[in-house]
Amino acid sequence: MRIKFHTIFSALLLFQFFLSVNSGFAQAVPGGLIKPGELWPDNNRNHVQAHGGGIIKVGDTYFWFGEYRAKDNDPDLRYVGCYSSKDLTNWTFRNTVIKISDPENLGKNWVLERPKVYYNKKTQKYVMYMHIDDGNYKLARVGVAVSDKVDGSYSYLKSFRPLGHESRDIGQFVDDDGAAYLIFEDRPFGFRIASLSDDYLNVEKEICLIPFHMEGGALIHYKGLYYAIGSALTGWRPNPNKYATATSLAGPWSEFKDIAPPETLTYGAQSTMIVKVVGDKSTTAIFMGDIWKPSEQWNSSYLWMPLNIGEGKLSLPAPKPWHLDVKSGKWNYTPSAK
Ligand code: GAL
Repeated sequence: MRIKFHTIFSALLLFQFFLSVNSGFAQAVPGGLIKPGELWPDNNRNHVQAHGGGIIKVGDTYFWFGEYRAKDNDPDLRYVGCYSSKDLTNWTFRNTVIKISDPENLGKNWVLERPKVYYNKKTQKYVMYMHIDDGNYKLARVGVAVSDKVDGSYSYLKSFRPLGHESRDIGQFVDDDGAAYLIFEDRPFGFRIASLSDDYLNVEKEICLIPFHMEGGALIHYKGLYYAIGSALTGWRPNPNKYATATSLAGPWSEFKDIAPPETLTYGAQSTMIVKVVGDKSTTAIFMGDIWKPSEQWNSSYLWMPLNIGEGKLSLPAPKPWHLDVKSGKWNYTPSAK
């Protein structure tokens, strides 16, 4: 009897110890840490497949879309993955929202890259833009697909050259007033920013041509200034990404400067988007980049870091694990700080 009591007592103590350790951890790191460059497990413990991606917020939930390049993909199909999160750190796999075979007879190595999804309030549809190309990247078009549900199956509608121009890497920008823009790389001329039509199904009006050759285009409107980030054109290999500023999207834009010490080649990453997290205490601008692994794309990882930004200056800190509190909008390297 005495032994039994002792055993139960010890078990209770052990249980209490586990509870305190776990709840202590949960309190110190709500949501956990973002670990740049590491594999990023989703709710199923699979590495997130959302490369060259973009993020939108629907209600209190973030949705991350990107190239779904899982090792066991059917090589004839192209996939777009969709994940959801409330804290931008823990991601739940929702669906492969695109899983299609060559929609325009482009041949074996056809390309679907850099998908970005916009929500159109008027039509209540989710509209996806993506780079569509043949295996030699000669077609240079955008593709458009729509869905009634954010994580539903998107129907492929068409492809075209925006405003008649070549378009390879695309980026997405939604301004603070809700206006939606497409950023696209036009090889002969540079980097274009254009507004979308009312229903978002077309690219309507050019806002600016920045005569600078940049891919992975990303924009943020921060404290009265626009900041544009892009990478040089070096394929899957990293290069020093650069930024410029302007008081209006139409420019004039400042000269381009490095976002990180150039010898680090943007710490091995290439820009894809800047996520603006507006909390009740602060605003954090997150650099979202891809660390490509061309020979095993399914292991390509992500470099997300909070940018140092303000008064016309922008820099990407050296990557290390950090914690984000989406409610306050604050971030910190030390898990306990809020
Ligand atoms: C990169 C581009 C990627 C992909 C790659 C192919 O420059 O950013 O999205 O197109 O080239 O080589």
